[in-house]
Amino acid sequence: MKTISIEEQILELKEKRNAVILAHNYVDGEVQDIADFVGDSLELSIMAKNTGSPVIVFCGVSFMAETAKILSPESVVLHPDPNAGCPMADMAPAEAVRKYRERNPDTVLVAYVNTTAEVKAEVDICCTSSNAEKIIRSIPEDKKIMFLPDQNLGANIMKLTGRKMDLWPGYCPTHNRMMPDAAEKIRAEYPDAAMVVHPECSPAIVEIADSALSTAGILDFAKKTDAKQIIIGTETGILHRLRKENPGKEFIPLIPLPVCPNMKKITLEKVLDSLKKMQFPVELDAALVKRARVPVERMFEF
Ligand code: 13P
Ligand code: SF4
Repeated sequence: MKTISIEEQILELKEKRNAVILAHNYVDGEVQDIADFVGDSLELSIMAKNTGSPVIVFCGVSFMAETAKILSPESVVLHPDPNAGCPMADMAPAEAVRKYRERNPDTVLVAYVNTTAEVKAEVDICCTSSNAEKIIRSIPEDKKIMFLPDQNLGANIMKLTGRKMDLWPGYCPTHNRMMPDAAEKIRAEYPDAAMVVHPECSPAIVEIADSALSTAGILDFAKKTDAKQIIIGTETGILHRLRKENPGKEFIPLIPLPVCPNMKKITLEKVLDSLKKMQFPVELDAALVKRARVPVERMFEF
């Protein structure tokens, strides 16, 4: 009897359910390969908003699946593993954000999309790493800004724009593991290599790199640079696309294993199960969706 591979089973069920599979650049390569679209947070939000598909299987972490639901509330959004969260998003609990707002009613709250739906419902505007600079520059000079929850992204944008902001004390544990001495060492080891990092890295790392970009920006940088060797300062999942799309170039991780364990929770088996059992649908209260959608839609104006 002919055995059907797990990939074939997923594709078959995907057709049957009329589903679309979206995957973030950090999930395992084999999951990326069965997806209809692979991208960064902003690209995935746009895809979720425009798909029109009745079922979205979201291969990424919870805040991303929630954002897809906020933007496509009519669709069933399946998250193959609801335990795949983002520790940085958890560093800004909704209650603490609400309290901050009460104490600072005139401050503009800018939230990185790496926040829960409940937090999005409390803020003025959202951003991703690819549009944060533009969004911050658009806020009137006389307004005080609180940027949450990533203090590294906030500090990097502050440096870029010269705009002072209050920073929430959150960070990404995966990107925070990259230390300036490791960055200096690898640059010395590969003197001809270009170096690009994610702006969730500390300003000290960004200072050493040639550029700090979103995951989509890193992919674009790799295509355009003349360098044949490129040092990459972000999560390892991105190496799959970098190598596939640039066969003549060598990609060197800044440190050996900057892995986001939550992104790695999304496996082919769980994607198959999610389509088989229609699990696990993102459930958000309609009133919450309505409020959380406002700052996300505002972000799209940029
Ligand atoms: P991007 O928006 O650059 O894909 O980043 C998302 C993320 O979670 C980085 O850690
Ligand atoms: Fe969150 Fe960091 Fe993982 Fe991105 S890489 S999902 S910020 S923990």
